[in-house]
Amino acid sequence: MYRCKVSLWDSDEPVPRAELLKGVAGAHGLLCLLSDKIDTEVLDAAGPNLKVISTLSVGFDHMAMDEIKKRGVRVGYTPDVLTDATAELTVALLLATARRLPEGVVEVKNGGWSTWKPLWLCGYGLSGSTVGVIGLGRIGMAIARRLKPFGVKRLLYSGRTAKSYAAEVEGEYVPLDTLVSESDFVVVSCALTPETQGLCNKDFFCKMKNTAVFINTSRGAVVNQEDLYQALSSGQIACAGLDVTTPEPLPTDHPLLTLKNCVVLPHIGSATYSTRGVMAELSANNLLGGLQGTDMPSELKF
Ligand code: NDP
Ligand code: DGY
Repeated sequence: MYRCKVSLWDSDEPVPRAELLKGVAGAHGLLCLLSDKIDTEVLDAAGPNLKVISTLSVGFDHMAMDEIKKRGVRVGYTPDVLTDATAELTVALLLATARRLPEGVVEVKNGGWSTWKPLWLCGYGLSGSTVGVIGLGRIGMAIARRLKPFGVKRLLYSGRTAKSYAAEVEGEYVPLDTLVSESDFVVVSCALTPETQGLCNKDFFCKMKNTAVFINTSRGAVVNQEDLYQALSSGQIACAGLDVTTPEPLPTDHPLLTLKNCVVLPHIGSATYSTRGVMAELSANNLLGGLQGTDMPSELKF
């Protein structure tokens, strides 16, 4: 049996920064959330005892990886176990955005539903469409697998390398520009890196079709939100669905929230009870592996 002293922030709310800095002092291991910025200040506060950081997320853009590596600290994360839930939410967001579900629900409640009208609340369908996935990784591929049966005609993807497994969805590896200009639905599911930060900017939206739907469930910083606002309000693109924003939460007076053609969700991609349960178990086991110096079930190799 392995015994350890646990300093626990026992709340669903994120730990305040000052509490984190105080609580981590001298710790051998840290279990954190994606909302905890793990930078030099936190690492210094932890001190030389720190052996492992386990994050309750697959994304690790909130952690200063170079500094962590320099200090020889191991990192655990939660790939795979949240792939299905996140892909499912992405499909739900895509359909809700393209078929204008939030607008429809509001109209029913506010009396805007007068009668059946031929062109009222029309949107865009997947059947016969071209879908472009930016980042055909675990989640991107799971999204593609789910979208294909809707009758998608072409499945394009972009990234750093072509994927042999893309054959299963008849995926075509194309340059980003081709994907952006030829897709009816552009779905972003890549990791946030220095290369992908701000990737979806004015230039990007200008290349999209006026009838195209933009969906982002990766990280908010992949998108330049001012440019997205311009693209949506000017009719450059049809609509957007975002599960992730900068910052999070998005301030309630943010211009994007004034637009009917923008559906914003509060970063709930992996939010099913069972997925969060499995993520919690996996991150606890990652932490224990790191503390004991044994295998971690999901260790990030970097
Ligand atoms: P993977 O590592 O499996 O996939 C990431 C993909 O990003 C890879 O296929 C990679 O492509 C691609 N990528 C990296 N750099 C670039 C680039 N320059 N241009 C285009 N694509 C690039 O991770 P997951 O699929 O498991 O997760 C992806 C991301 O989804 C996470 O990093 C996280 O940010 C986000 N996420 C969001 C959730 C939510 O709640 N909304 C839930 C879970 C994850 P290549 O292999 O060619 O390098
Ligand atoms: C992740 O894991 O990176 C998501 O954003 C939350 O599950």
